Amino acid sequence: MPLFTILSLFPEAIESYLTVGVLGLAVKRELIQVQVVDFRDFSRDRHRTVDHRPFGGGPGMVLRPEPVVEAVEWVEERHGPHRRVVLDPAGTPFVQSHAKAMATAERTLLLAGRYEGFDERLLQLLDFEPFSIGDFVLAGGELPALCLLEAAARLIPGVLGDERSAELDSFSDAKTLDHPHFTRPRVFRGLTVPSVLLTGDHSAIDAWRQKEANKRTKERRPDLDDPKGA
Ligand SMILES: C[S@@+](CC[C@H](N)C(=O)[O-])C[C@H]1O[C@@H](n2cnc3c(N)ncnc32)[C@H](O)[C@@H]1O
Repeated sequence: MPLFTILSLFPEAIESYLTVGVLGLAVKRELIQVQVVDFRDFSRDRHRTVDHRPFGGGPGMVLRPEPVVEAVEWVEERHGPHRRVVLDPAGTPFVQSHAKAMATAERTLLLAGRYEGFDERLLQLLDFEPFSIGDFVLAGGELPALCLLEAAARLIPGVLGDERSAELDSFSDAKTLDHPHFTRPRVFRGLTVPSVLLTGDHSAIDAWRQKEANKRTKERRPDLDDPKGA
């Protein structure tokens, strides 16, 4: 069973999310194992501090390397080596192909920062891959860590009720957004469901969905380029 270890100063913020929805079911059905470790427990000083002022001056506090290194060593001694990821707004933008790779890893460690982030030597010493969830800055890495975990977990066989939904999702082929979806009622506040979806003609429905997906990709994400079938 794939193991995900999250290192964070706010484990309680993460643990509640692990009990609901797709992740909650994946944990309950033992399709994934998730452990959350508070790296403050590895602080050696009596005030349990994990941060200090930056060398060179400037605002904010920087996370010291020692508690995190010790937490990683403690985890890996017990569970074996992990693929190590640090959440970082200055990291590589995380995309679906990264989620696919993460879904096949045996053990992944997700390190969530706070304050100004980590002392750079930690990242060099332990060979962390930095990933960003977008060009904006949050207060902490807990939400980004959960984003990566959920994106990977839903690609693990058995986690989604119907595996075709992941295959058809936006970005599953890296180039196309998902098509629009409709359900009941057939007419809502004067807006009708596209008639082709009511015909039962599956090849016409597939063609319509493909056309709409391509159109939407061109309008919203021209950077994705070359929609399938275009
Ligand atoms: C306030 S941020 C640090 C920002 C950092 N000084 C910078 O400007 O790049 C604190 C922590 O939140 C997390 N974080 C914030 N925004 C993020 C993003 N867009 N992607 C991934 N992690 C993020 C990281 O773990 C980071 O160490």
